[in-house]
Amino acid sequence: MYLNSKLPASGTTIFSVMSKLAAEHGALNLGQGFPGFAIDPLLGELTRHYIDKGYNQYAPMPGVPELRKAIAEKIQFLYGHAYDPAEEITVTAGATQAIYTALTALVHDGDEVMLFAPAYDSYAPGVELNGGIPVWIELEPPHYTIQWDLVKKLINHRTRVILINTPHNPTGTILKEEDLRQLANIVSGTDIIIISDEVYEHMVFDGARHESVTRYPELADRAVVVASFGKTFHVTGWKMGYAAAPAPMMAEFRKVHQFNVFSCNTPMQYALCAYMEDRTHWQGLPGFYQKKRNLFLEAVRNSAFQFTPAEGSYFQLLDYSRISAEKDTDMAVRLTREHKITAIPVSVFYPGHGPGHMLRFCFAKNDEDLLRAGEILQHI
Ligand SMILES: Cc1ncc(COP(=O)(O)O)c(C=O)c1O
Repeated sequence: MYLNSKLPASGTTIFSVMSKLAAEHGALNLGQGFPGFAIDPLLGELTRHYIDKGYNQYAPMPGVPELRKAIAEKIQFLYGHAYDPAEEITVTAGATQAIYTALTALVHDGDEVMLFAPAYDSYAPGVELNGGIPVWIELEPPHYTIQWDLVKKLINHRTRVILINTPHNPTGTILKEEDLRQLANIVSGTDIIIISDEVYEHMVFDGARHESVTRYPELADRAVVVASFGKTFHVTGWKMGYAAAPAPMMAEFRKVHQFNVFSCNTPMQYALCAYMEDRTHWQGLPGFYQKKRNLFLEAVRNSAFQFTPAEGSYFQLLDYSRISAEKDTDMAVRLTREHKITAIPVSVFYPGHGPGHMLRFCFAKNDEDLLRAGEILQHI
C-alpha cells in the first residue's frame, strides 16, 4: 500500500535516538530534558488522594475550573496580566499539545510562521502539518540573540505567527525587556499572532527576570502563552500544561482542543491545583536550578569544553571545538559509546546543518550525576 507521508523528512526524534543509545551503552544520560530526581512526595500523595476520592472521570473540556483559576492567579501575581479563567485558559496534555493545537487553530494554508533556529523540534512539523510555511531566522551566536531588523524585513501580509521561546531550548538564553519591546513595535498594527513558549519560566538565573509576553499588554492581547506543569513540577511524564490567550483566540483554540484531546487527566488537575496553593513550590525553582547549573559548570570548568553560562532553562551548551572537528552528531554518538556520557547535538535543532560544534547537556539531574558528568568531561 502506498503511504503518502505528511512528514517525509522526519524520522524518530533525536531525543529517543540518543536515550536509546545511552541505555544500550550504560551511559550517563544528560541528553533528553527531563529531571533525574524524585518529585515532591506531596504531589504524588495529592494525586493518589484525588484518585481515591473518585475524581476519575472526564474533566470539563477546558480544564478543571479550580485549576484554571489557580493558573490565572499565578499569572496575575507573577506578571500582572489578568486572564479570565472561564474563557482564556485551557489545560492541555503538555506544552507540545498546546503549541500544536494553537498552530492548528490559527494557521491556514500558505500562512507563514516565523521560527528561530535553533528551535525545539516540534515547531516546524506543527507548522507544516497545518499547511503553514516555516520562515527561519537564525539566532546570532554566541549569545543567540534575535536580529529584530531581519524579523522586520521578513514579515509580510502572509506572516500569521511569530513563535518565540524564552528561556530557550536548546541555547539556555533568555529574551530581555528590549527584545519584547522590539517585538511589540514590529507587530503593532498587524494581524500577527505570537505563540510564546514559556515552559522554562521558572528557570531564570543570576537575578534576571522572566520576560513573559504577559508582562506586555500589547503583546498579551495577540498571544497564546504556553506553559508546562511537567517542567515546573518535575513531572515531564505527566504531560500536563496549559495555554492562555485572549478570549477570541482561546475560543478557536478550544474548537480544536475539544476534538483532538477533549480534556486532560482529572485527578492530576486537582492535585496540581492543590499543590499550587503553596507558592514556595515554584518560587524556589530559580535558586534550585541555578545551583545545579553552577555545580555542572564548576565540574567542567577545567575541561577543554568552552561555554557561556546558561541564563535560563535547564540546558547548558558546551562548545567542543578545542577537542575535535567532527560533526556534532558523530561527537554525540562517540561520547556515548566511548565515554559513557550522552548529550544532544545542537545541529538537530536547525532546519539545515547548524554550526556543528555544540552539544546540549541537561543539568536537571542529581548532584552526583552532575559531578560524575564533570569528571568524565574533564578527561576528554
Ligand atoms: C521549548 C520546549 N517547549 C515545549 C516542550 C514540551 O513540553 P511538554 O512536555 O509539556 O509537552 C519542551 C520539552 O522539552 C521544550 O523544551
